[in-house]
Amino acid sequence: MKNFINIGDIDKKDLRNIIENAKSQKKNKSQLSKSSIDSNTLLKDKTLIMIFEKPSTRTRLSFELAMKQLGGSVLILNPKESHYGSGGESIHDTAKVLSQYGDIVMMRTNKHKDFLKFSKHLDIPIINGLTNLSHPCQIMSDIMTFEELKGPILNKKIAWLGDANNIVYSLIEAATKFNFELSIASPKKLKPNKKIIEWAKKKKAKIILTKNPKIAAESADCIMTDKWISMGDKVNKKKKKKLLKPYQVNNKIMKLAKPEAIFLHCLPANRGEEVTDDVMDGKQSVVWLEALNRIYVQKSIIQWCLK
Ligand code: CP
Ligand code: NVA
Repeated sequence: MKNFINIGDIDKKDLRNIIENAKSQKKNKSQLSKSSIDSNTLLKDKTLIMIFEKPSTRTRLSFELAMKQLGGSVLILNPKESHYGSGGESIHDTAKVLSQYGDIVMMRTNKHKDFLKFSKHLDIPIINGLTNLSHPCQIMSDIMTFEELKGPILNKKIAWLGDANNIVYSLIEAATKFNFELSIASPKKLKPNKKIIEWAKKKKAKIILTKNPKIAAESADCIMTDKWISMGDKVNKKKKKKLLKPYQVNNKIMKLAKPEAIFLHCLPANRGEEVTDDVMDGKQSVVWLEALNRIYVQKSIIQWCLK
């Protein structure tokens, strides 16, 4: 039984295998419709329980489709309608009960520490579907998307512009495992978590931190960003947006990257803020493929956990 909580906790080889398995499952699926069951029903008789403390479109639907295609089923627990969220039952007891009903859990929580607490009492594997700290499933899908279009990510330059949020945390961890160069441009006040940078540097990751978005974008193979205000972000929104304004990904920024560079965004996006319409809808944007690939990566992560 294995948990998928943070990229940093997982062996390099296992992460590589998850990506390769996702790619090959995508190839096998190409002739089948989205809802058809794969010939290899690897998750037949398996149930995934999903819990969302925050909204979700992509994570919820891609996990649901992943289970469906592999012949398994899904149960969704809404904290607002259950004893878990209302405080009527301890995290400990809910975890024990879910271990009786399902084979694996995927959870999205407000606080990473609540996720960890829940995982400790669970007798079945758990997948991190986003916390305030990290979003590992998203970054795995981003790596698959990059490699599908551009080949191996090894030594490629990935640029991040904007808020150093939960997506960046997982991206930094991924840089240590997949050995790509990561250039992060953010205002001084919104720099990445100091501890994760120190950890990554000890692992000899090639990470550049800069205040200058142009330096980050220059000759990049891929430009990435995310919305400036994350779910549950308790900040002065006006002030934060003002600080981040120079980090918008627009055509001027895209022109600094390699001509064949791609644009990634985990979505949902706030068009006109962190990204302009012409970039989102432009020919370098691969955001819809990135969302599609979540299905294949989720399939592969679930199988890895259940192995
Ligand atoms: N990218 C992502 O995780 O999207 P959702 O919040 O819609 O799940
Ligand atoms: N940073 C964003 C990611 C959404 C998928 C958030 O946490 O809201």
